[in-house]
Amino acid sequence: AQPVIVAIDGPSGTGKSSTSKAVAAQLGLSYLDTGAQYRAITWWMVNNEIDIEDPTAIAAVAGKPEIVSGTDPAGPTITVDGTDVAGPIRTQEVTSQVSAVSAVPEVRARITELQRSLAAAAEKGIVVEGRDIGTTVLPDADLKIFLTASAEARAARRSGELKGADVQATREALVKRDAADSSRKTSPLAKADDAVEVDTTELSLAQVIECVVTLVEEKR
Ligand code: C5P
Repeated sequence: AQPVIVAIDGPSGTGKSSTSKAVAAQLGLSYLDTGAQYRAITWWMVNNEIDIEDPTAIAAVAGKPEIVSGTDPAGPTITVDGTDVAGPIRTQEVTSQVSAVSAVPEVRARITELQRSLAAAAEKGIVVEGRDIGTTVLPDADLKIFLTASAEARAARRSGELKGADVQATREALVKRDAADSSRKTSPLAKADDAVEVDTTELSLAQVIECVVTLVEEKR
């Protein structure tokens, strides 16, 4: 069979990662978390004391860190210059700064290139999740999904993941990050014209997974 390319985009807390990983595992496809790549380059910037407020400073060093993603859905990995950063990229410090770093065109060009080469190398196909996969990274994807959910549902899910973090504060941080990601000039968070929109507010994770698996099977 031809490799199948699936793009899953949407704002934070819509279940993109859980859905994408499970769909890839069920269908024997590779999996790429592009948010982890932007978090990894942000982690490197923070660690190297690059001024996050200064896009020119970020652009100047955007090519320096070597970011490697493992694409097995059973255990995706991410390293920066050989260091495992799977834990550190999830901290509040990185989360609050990732939108600023990922808005810099030189950062996007670099990460987009990595994403395209990983997708091209996936023999059976790949599920790629992010914000601009269907619009910019893989515009010829076989299937594009745009996941949405109410801000309340997204904040509740995210604070559940963060083990009891304040829902209100989580909601504010999410809304702020989505607004920044949606309004940036280069490759903002957006639904591709040919994407299938799935509102997950009232759906269980199992239902969302089944819905996406069915859509992929229809394309094969
Ligand atoms: O998906 P996750 O919440 O880990 O993504 C972290 C951040 O990475 C997003 O808020 C966004 O700023 C950036 N991102 C992006 N383009 C993508 C994926 C993530 O700009 N394709």
